[in-house]
Amino acid sequence: MIRSVVVGCGSYLPERILTNADLEKLVDTSDEWIIERTGIHQRHIAADNEKTSDLALNAARAALADAGVAVDEVDLIVLATSTPDQTFPATACKVQAGLGMTRGFAFDVQAVCSGFIYALATADNFIKAGQAKTALVIGAETFSRILDWTDRTTCVLFADGAGALVLKAEEGRGDNSDRGVLTTHLHSDGRHHDLLYVDGGPSSTQTTGHLRMLGKEVFRHAVVNLAEVVRETLDAVGMQPSEIDWLVPHQANKRIIDGTARKLGLSTDRVVLTVDRHGNTSAASVPLALAEAVKDGRIKRGDVLLLEAMGGGFTWGSALVRW
Ligand code: UT7
Repeated sequence: MIRSVVVGCGSYLPERILTNADLEKLVDTSDEWIIERTGIHQRHIAADNEKTSDLALNAARAALADAGVAVDEVDLIVLATSTPDQTFPATACKVQAGLGMTRGFAFDVQAVCSGFIYALATADNFIKAGQAKTALVIGAETFSRILDWTDRTTCVLFADGAGALVLKAEEGRGDNSDRGVLTTHLHSDGRHHDLLYVDGGPSSTQTTGHLRMLGKEVFRHAVVNLAEVVRETLDAVGMQPSEIDWLVPHQANKRIIDGTARKLGLSTDRVVLTVDRHGNTSAASVPLALAEAVKDGRIKRGDVLLLEAMGGGFTWGSALVRW
């Protein structure tokens, strides 16, 4: 059986850091409220001349260097973003050009905060179908560009960054001892499209628009949907929560992450947490967290990782990966 084995990862965070104290000067909020309700202390914000493709390119280069894979070997780029440089072409095509890659194919997927899980599942399926052998999977966002900086209910939450993985097709045994993506599970429920959305777009207002969210409602759905998809994922491969080495969740809110870990019976030292320093970077949050825990030596070859995310749409999903 063909498996998509992760052979490298990389990430990029813009230099500028925005602290909760900085936000106290912009809107009626407090460091105490933000930390208590979300766990966020600070976040990174792209420079004026940095676009999503620039962040993505930096993360992609770091992932390829980590993998020791040459650009010519890559035949697929799947890039998850809800903040593309332009309406079209796909940001993935700009990354392809930036890498100097003249073969293969590149496209964007848009599933908001679940985007990276959708991109990973998409690339995995292309690899399993034999249509690609080496894939770059990227999550990259400049959410600072779509925030309403006068809306305290959203501007304190979201931020910018990018993360990338390199996948390679390798022959596996077809059981849980294989390295690579073991299973992926995607869901959406469009009935809730108006609980987390951007109030603009080319076909409606011809403006970019700003992010709007009914946070409490999203929170309520996130807790339920994530618990369900995590159970579905483990059931699909007949694994127990105790077999997970690391939970690498979407970093929206520490309370949601703690709730998911508690339901799985995982102690906090088996959860990769970056929301405190990165905020919610939407499609970039899972690969950013992954790259951090790989770089600092927590995630080791052979570890079982459970990745999960939930976002606008609603969309949600998870992936089980043996590193
Ligand atoms: O990544 C995609 C998925 N997104 C998520 O998973 C986000 C899910 N939602 C959340 O994380 C949380 O709902 C929030 C962090 C957004 C909000 O936390 P909450 O505990 O649900 O607070 P709330 O919305 O119920 O607001 C409580 C109070 C309100 O005041 P009143 O009505 O009780 O007087 C808000 O106006 O907190 C107020 N508030 C703030 N106060 C200070 C809202 N934002 C702020 C703020 N600073 N930044």
